[in-house]
Amino acid sequence: LSISPFIADLPKVELHVHIEGTLTPTLRWELAHRNNVSLPYSTFDELKASYAVTLNHRPELNGRQPGIPTFLEAYFAGCEVLRTEDDFYDLAMAYLRRCTEMNVRYTEPFFDIQAHTRRGVPAPSVLNGYLRAQHDAKEQFNVRSRWVLCFLRDEPVEDGLAAYREARPWAAGIVEGGKGLFHAVGLASNAYERPPMLFEEGFNLARADGLHITMHCDFGQKDTYAHLNEAIFRVCEGRGSERIDHGLDAEDREELWQGLRDRNIGLTLCPHAYHRRTATEVLFPKIRRLWENGVKICINSDDPTLMHDVWIDGNMQKVYTYGGFSKVDMVRLARNAVDMSWAVDDVKRSIY
Ligand code: HPA
Ligand code: ZN
Repeated sequence: LSISPFIADLPKVELHVHIEGTLTPTLRWELAHRNNVSLPYSTFDELKASYAVTLNHRPELNGRQPGIPTFLEAYFAGCEVLRTEDDFYDLAMAYLRRCTEMNVRYTEPFFDIQAHTRRGVPAPSVLNGYLRAQHDAKEQFNVRSRWVLCFLRDEPVEDGLAAYREARPWAAGIVEGGKGLFHAVGLASNAYERPPMLFEEGFNLARADGLHITMHCDFGQKDTYAHLNEAIFRVCEGRGSERIDHGLDAEDREELWQGLRDRNIGLTLCPHAYHRRTATEVLFPKIRRLWENGVKICINSDDPTLMHDVWIDGNMQKVYTYGGFSKVDMVRLARNAVDMSWAVDDVKRSIY
């Protein structure tokens, strides 16, 4: 699917992208050599080919084939080459540079600090690498970013709390002397039997620090409606999450999509991620119905290099081509991301 000039030129804001999911095979290869990390591939072409075969990460659906990693296994395997502050800087700068090519003016990337600290990488290496990229991308590319620290929901809750406490000096909000890297916390990784309410203490800590809250409710998960119910109505002492990442399953249940609409909780959708495993005729009408029912949605990429190299522009093109969205609708979708963002008003106004 080629990207039309109209989609290419739209000013964009991205609110759902995992920075570790933007690691290209090229940079991974380079970092493996820089850091003497051995990869299970003897040639670059083999490494590249490995990106084509990642499966769904839902363990209950499985369909695993021996030797082929699940999606999240491939994602965390990619992280192995990230060791030093410069590695995290290079990863972030590569994505932020690419933003300029897609006319992404502002972005709120997720990062998984625990994916690195649990391998023995010091937290400051990760955080300072991203902080430097945040600064340099603003200066060099005029691309602004406010980052989102994600708890790994399949790790013990305590580990997430400890990671948050360690990262806190890099937060924004009302943290005294905070360096302003991240403005929110999120919830990522495998949702299997890990509902949002388990992380209530972490969300409340972050809220007390003046940070924003979002959380993944992936499409087609076990207990997906129960997780959505918690994210919409129960977390944050009953206020609900400010945004939900994915959340597409809410379309199936009136009380859920009405809850999203009435509480003005926007969904950060990643159409290509679903399109990998959902028929066009099923998926795009579903997105359309959420839109027509007044749920606020925006379009994003999730993990572009692990998802056939489809970035935010490719995701928008899919919605435009398959979803029956007009040019005016597409501008509205792009504006929704501005409204849903946690940018300051000046930045919002500079985009639309
Ligand atoms: N789902 C959940 N967590 C993630 C993903 C995803 O697709 N990518 C990176 N972290
Ligand atoms: Zn995601």
